[in-house]
Amino acid sequence: MLGYVNWHRGRKYVHRREILDLITRDVVEQKPDHIAVTGDLVNLGLPEEFLRAAEWLHHLGPPSQVTAIPGNHDAYVRLHPKAGTHHWRPYMESNAAGEALFPTPPERFPFVRRFGDVALIALSSAIPTMPFIAAGKVGSPQREFLAAALSDLSRKGLFRVVLIHHPPLRAQAGWHRGLRDAGKLTKILKQHGAELVLHGHNHAQTVHELETATGPAFVVGVPSASEAVEGRIPAARWNEYGIAREGNGWRVEMVGRSIAANPDHVWECERRLLREA
Ligand SMILES: [Fe+2]
Repeated sequence: MLGYVNWHRGRKYVHRREILDLITRDVVEQKPDHIAVTGDLVNLGLPEEFLRAAEWLHHLGPPSQVTAIPGNHDAYVRLHPKAGTHHWRPYMESNAAGEALFPTPPERFPFVRRFGDVALIALSSAIPTMPFIAAGKVGSPQREFLAAALSDLSRKGLFRVVLIHHPPLRAQAGWHRGLRDAGKLTKILKQHGAELVLHGHNHAQTVHELETATGPAFVVGVPSASEAVEGRIPAARWNEYGIAREGNGWRVEMVGRSIAANPDHVWECERRLLREA
């Protein structure tokens, strides 16, 4: 109920279907090799919302081309196992190549997907919380899995992308909305390295460069995909990453595509070379 009141007072004016549709069309038109959705697909966690979110995922592409992880809103309420995020399951599981690298634990997270030289490690930071708390937690079993996966995938010379809904660095969010084990997670990232960490939750475009044992890890947060232009927080946006092996290293370019105020369309708002070999 509190979530519903909150939504009426704010989010329904800011998050709009037509904005999401513009962004969705643009993503599909750019034909990325793979799409990662870093969560909060629903507002209140009503059973109906999960079905509509599943339809939206289908619109983005088949499960083989789209990976999704849950956000805090997606864990608002405990639903029957066959309801809720169950509808997104094909988008939230490993692929055969990923399973061969790291079998998914019974808790279903983390799962690994591999596409050629790129490996996605998908974490869940979604936990049910008290009203007005949007915090998340990865927990020690997932952290241990992550540490092992990062070090092994590094030895195999793969480009490691970590997906997590909450921002992983402690300074990025306070107690009410932050990741409870951000400090421990950061330690793992520093110790074992990662090439790219993608998150949502803060509804803002941010890039942090984290020094790790295997070189810099770029931690990138993206605005919401449904934020109206006049919103209190940045306009809807998605980021496209061009990843290429170059010599012994990687070249990574990020292209930001965002909703323009007038007329309504999506434009390239940023192009930035994150790393060069
Ligand atoms: Fe969130």
